[in-house]
Amino acid sequence: MSTEITATIFSLFKKYGHIVYGEKMNVSSHSIQSGLIAKEKGYDEELILSAFLHDIGHLYPLELEDSTFEKMGEYGIEQHDKWGAVLLEKLGFSARLIAPVKNHVDAKRYLCYANKSYYNELTEASKQTLEYQGGPMTSEEAAQFEADPFFEDSILIRRIDEEAKAPDFVITDEHWQYFSELLDRIQE
Ligand SMILES: [Fe+2]
Ligand SMILES: [Fe+2]
Repeated sequence: MSTEITATIFSLFKKYGHIVYGEKMNVSSHSIQSGLIAKEKGYDEELILSAFLHDIGHLYPLELEDSTFEKMGEYGIEQHDKWGAVLLEKLGFSARLIAPVKNHVDAKRYLCYANKSYYNELTEASKQTLEYQGGPMTSEEAAQFEADPFFEDSILIRRIDEEAKAPDFVITDEHWQYFSELLDRIQE
């Protein structure tokens, strides 16, 4: 792949990453925190990028003319998980990188079904959006989700999603540099 793809992604963050969707930090901060937590946990580069890009679907539809996206009130783009996957598929990323992005709302719905305390730990915004997203999974939906080949990876990234919400996190140039290099490298 090419640095053109990196440029496409960076341009979305540059134009729209400052947007705040109901949380106490903007999309860029949340995305960088997510990627760095995946790195700290020792996950491989595919999963680090998956974490970094999991909410790109909040930004990508804003770029499309005549886009059919709907908003979840102040909480961002409805189906942003699927929008993110659409973009990443278009850019040619691997199925394993894309799956946790595509599944991160389902993984929340799954965890709310499987683990009662998980719901209580969600931020207020995350609880609110759960309503838009269909609420906790049913047992049938959960069984189906467990059969997804990327189920485990999707749960790992979802857990990071909730951790990556420090309001006072400061983004540096080095952070952007790190993800830019990672994006270039994964495309080789
Ligand atoms: Fe999200
Ligand atoms: Fe998120």
